[in-house]
Amino acid sequence: MTVLKPTNRPNDARFSCGPTKKRPGWELSALAAAPLGRTHRGGTPKARLAEAIERTAAILEIPDDYKVIITPASDTGAMEGAMWSMLGARGVDVLACDEFGGRWLIDARDELKPEGLTIHHAPYGVAPDYSKVDFKNDVVFTWNATAAGVRVTDGDWIKDDREGLTICDATSAAFAMELPWSKLDVTTFSWQKCMGGEAQHGIAILSPRARQRLREYRPSWPVPRILQLFEAGDETAKIYEGSTINTPSLLCTEDYLDALKWAAKEGGVSALIDRTQANFDALADWVEKTDWIDFLAKEPATRSQTSVTLKFSGKELEGKSEEERWAVSRRMGVLLDREEAAFDVIPHPKAPAGLRIWCGPTIDADDVVALGPWLDWAYHEALANPAD
Ligand SMILES: Cc1ncc(COP(=O)(O)O)c(C=O)c1O
Repeated sequence: MTVLKPTNRPNDARFSCGPTKKRPGWELSALAAAPLGRTHRGGTPKARLAEAIERTAAILEIPDDYKVIITPASDTGAMEGAMWSMLGARGVDVLACDEFGGRWLIDARDELKPEGLTIHHAPYGVAPDYSKVDFKNDVVFTWNATAAGVRVTDGDWIKDDREGLTICDATSAAFAMELPWSKLDVTTFSWQKCMGGEAQHGIAILSPRARQRLREYRPSWPVPRILQLFEAGDETAKIYEGSTINTPSLLCTEDYLDALKWAAKEGGVSALIDRTQANFDALADWVEKTDWIDFLAKEPATRSQTSVTLKFSGKELEGKSEEERWAVSRRMGVLLDREEAAFDVIPHPKAPAGLRIWCGPTIDADDVVALGPWLDWAYHEALANPAD
């Protein structure tokens, strides 16, 4: 079947799941006022870090008794800081259904090895069984499994009277999905995901109980300085005013601030969630009317609205091996890139073949609508001409 090459390109071809597209209208000049070449320990630079913390809390509408810190090393730094600094006080349940949850699982199982570890693992496309979690234990999980396109639907499975802490990697969910703060003791994310900021800094949002753990408990294993969150146990700690664990990038901070100011102008987190949902709906309409593609997530309620992950479902690839399917994904990626119609829409390398399209808040719905015909074209072109 021949599908004609569309003429109407998305205005912006960046659909990568991370770093993601910057906010609409972003230009390098947005960073012109960054206080570069100065120490982060005082004056304007320190005020900028404090502002990033304040604006994060305001946009995400976190409860007054929760606190925000900036960590080194992106989301991984924030998650591993929480795991290394807090786990081991009681048993641990880890839930995982993709590469990223799998990393925390490996950290717990092979590195920290806490007593009483229970693993809840699900294959790509399926959510872990939340009903099996023991809330006497600490619970480590991922709100949106970016590589599988599978998300947690809500926090109803998390007990209000839990004894352990919930440690939630929310990197592709924060700013794009509703997060039930009262159910989350530690929530982490990076600047480059939903907000399209520059990479390398993480955020951890700490409940009063998480801070109590940091105040009262020291793990038996060594904790490298870069992962030590203990200071945050002190309610008056300087880390809450933007005194970071080590030297931050003031250019990245300026960029994150720019994204937060954009978010505020858009109308805050509910507006960002609406933008994300509109993008997802536009893509879902295309999936609905396209016979060669389907969602990887089996259960509709678990389908991520940000990292929308799709699998091939057409008769053309029936009976083909995973390697042959991946060849189609890769070829589509090359064709779309060459046409500057879509960049980076092939799945995470550890995921099944198909497509993965970022639909987070910085994407415009019109671009998602314009993308559909290009995907159709690229699929049929990849089948007809598997190589140049
Ligand atoms: C759910 C999730 N967790 C963790 C990571 C790793 O994050 P970082 O590279 O910010 O450390 C990613 C990156 O895509 C992710 O999507």
